[in-house]
Amino acid sequence: MSASIPIPFSTSPNVAVSVSPTSTNIHERFRQPSGGLSLNVRLPKVLHPVDNEGLKLLLLENISQEAVKTFQAQGFTVDHSTKAMSEDELIAKISQYHAIGIRSKTKITEKVIKAASKLLVIGCFCIGTNQVDLHTASKAGIPVFNSPFSNSRSVAELVLSEVIALSRQYFERGYEMRQGIWNKQSKGCWEIRGKTLGIVGYGHIGSQLSVLAEAFGMRVLFHDVINIMPLGSARQVESLDALLAESDFITLHVPELPETMNMISTPQLAKMKQGAYLINNARGKVIDIPALIDALKSKHLAGAAIDVFPAEPGANGSPFDNQLNTWASALQSIPNVILTPHIGGSTEEAQRMIGEEVSSALVRYLNYGSTLGAVNFPEVDLRAITAEQGNHVRICHVHQNIPGVLRQVNEVLSPYNVEKQYSDSKGDIAYLMADIADVSPQDINRLRELISRTSANILTRLLA
Ligand SMILES: NC(=O)c1ccc[n+]([C@@H]2O[C@H](COP(=O)([O-])OP(=O)(O)OC[C@H]3O[C@@H](n4cnc5c(N)ncnc54)[C@H](O)[C@@H]3O)[C@@H](O)[C@H]2O)c1
Repeated sequence: MSASIPIPFSTSPNVAVSVSPTSTNIHERFRQPSGGLSLNVRLPKVLHPVDNEGLKLLLLENISQEAVKTFQAQGFTVDHSTKAMSEDELIAKISQYHAIGIRSKTKITEKVIKAASKLLVIGCFCIGTNQVDLHTASKAGIPVFNSPFSNSRSVAELVLSEVIALSRQYFERGYEMRQGIWNKQSKGCWEIRGKTLGIVGYGHIGSQLSVLAEAFGMRVLFHDVINIMPLGSARQVESLDALLAESDFITLHVPELPETMNMISTPQLAKMKQGAYLINNARGKVIDIPALIDALKSKHLAGAAIDVFPAEPGANGSPFDNQLNTWASALQSIPNVILTPHIGGSTEEAQRMIGEEVSSALVRYLNYGSTLGAVNFPEVDLRAITAEQGNHVRICHVHQNIPGVLRQVNEVLSPYNVEKQYSDSKGDIAYLMADIADVSPQDINRLRELISRTSANILTRLLA
């Protein structure tokens, strides 16, 4: 008999290694052709929905070709369009699809979801999900996936570039050169080495930035509402005021919440060092911009970089003017202010990461039932069924979150061996996953029918 030990560095919970005890010492073991380790790898079984119908996906708004390839590799049929669809167009077409991928322009409304008789899952190939009626989707048993953090690095890099640009005033100098003016100067231009960067919000972006800034020789302080283990030599300070008082650059990386609205206004600006800089790549409403304009005009601050605004144009080419934000021209007229059109996360790399992340979340849900990362659903997953567990079946049961459901479902499952089972709820919706051993092909449809008939059923899928 051989002892089975887990491989410590394996990411798969289903991989084990058998070590032969006949070898006398470790050197002899590794001299054997297989290195003495007989790899007894338990490969995961590839699951598929048991319905006969092949899965059909609709991808809109020019979602990346990598995503198309990922879906085609799974045997899904993919209809790809570079354009968004209107509500009416969607209502006419959506009933043939099991999944839809969109970016921010296509609106998945209640009417669209009601027309989507086969729809199992929605993928938002972007950061936000407010273009989807999340509540109606979850009530219809449809999880929604997005990619909230794929562009963290892109934002962090932009911020670091802005720290240098503000410090060296090169936006101003470059602008003057385009006007035909040569204006070489060093007054008020600084290296960033040895300066203090104050990060407000030490999450995905703030912490990435911390590492980049230290590599440039900056001292990094941060403030967050939760205690976070600092990276490198960064230090968490106890209050926003302490951060404002000590930093040469303040950069904001907080979500838009009632508590973060206008979190930097006249009193906070007054607490910043004379000649400091302010950077906002978070959300438009976290800074009181008229107050910032005053602080810049009085030369209390030496510059600012703003990528996000309380009101932003809906389309490229639209004006960014006083009609949109009453203070626009005042801000545009101040030197050493960098204004960018919400490009923090806009890089090819971020788009590719979004494509990979959302397409693999959709495949994991369609083929394996996992809702990890869903924004409107309880997050449930089970470890894989292995290749040798040929006649195991996975039950994915979305139901209303009311008492007595598990009793009904388990009654149906009671003649079988339930190998593993996990259930969780979020609001009105609950989701149960269960792996059942030794289910004959004849029993599969009967099982699905019986569970679908339970009183709180929203959707029951079987994967085998
Ligand atoms: N400019 C862009 O293109 C762009 C791109 C991506 C993200 N963003 C925005 O950047 C911001 C940060 O994104 P993230 O991915 O790092 O988010 P995150 O959720 O990973 O981190 C946010 C951090 O802020 C902290 N926080 C919350 N309230 C706070 C408060 N009142 N004071 C101090 N800290 C507080 C949280 O504890 C958390 O650590 C978000 O607003 C996001 O929408 C902008």
